[in-house]
Amino acid sequence: MTKKRTAILISGRGSNMMSLVEAAAGLEFPALIAAVISNRPDAAGLAWAAAHGIPTRVVDHKAFANRHAFEDGLQAALDDFGTELVCLAGFMRVLGAGIVARWSGRMVNIHPSLLPSFKGLHTHEQALAAGVRISGCTAHFVVPEMDAGPIIAQAAVPVVDGDTPDSLAARVLGVEHRLYPHALALVASGRARMAGDRVVGERSPMGVNQAEWLMSPPLGVLG
Ligand code: GRF
Repeated sequence: MTKKRTAILISGRGSNMMSLVEAAAGLEFPALIAAVISNRPDAAGLAWAAAHGIPTRVVDHKAFANRHAFEDGLQAALDDFGTELVCLAGFMRVLGAGIVARWSGRMVNIHPSLLPSFKGLHTHEQALAAGVRISGCTAHFVVPEMDAGPIIAQAAVPVVDGDTPDSLAARVLGVEHRLYPHALALVASGRARMAGDRVVGERSPMGVNQAEWLMSPPLGVLG
């Protein structure tokens, strides 16, 4: 099996990046984490990745004159690592249409809501304000419109009485760490691919057995 060389883009703590790195350590996992790239030099996830033997790179958006130049710098870094797939994992820069088009069908994001509900920032505040009883997360291909790309996989969690944005975020994050490695595996193996505004192939690892799947052992132990 040829593993797809995957770069993970982060801006902060990188807990989703950690779950991808740990899943990719499995012999049968179809992606290899070729690099962790951050637009912020102080991103906590960088040190964790380096300590786990993953090449890291900072492409600081503040060091570039404009977004176009920053994205050229990002593309150059992706090229340096021979990147075939990109995972955005808490990457807090909006990418322009040019670089998104270049990576069309090969760039994946995770968002902490059941899209198309609650796009953008303050997701959990939005969910609580709307009074939904179920929230969750979505792994999707990246398109120019934010949080709008074809859906690869979703996982749901209950919203419980007394939830705060933080408590809901923590519950959703727990399923993000399981969903994102599954989504990357589907894409890297070719079992799911983008076809226009839809994903064809295996669209979700969960289906009717979601509860069972969520209760199964985690893919990796975060440390
Ligand atoms: C996650 O909730 C992710 O869905 C969102 O940003 C957060 C990043 O967290 N896009 P982490 O850096 O992966 O811990």
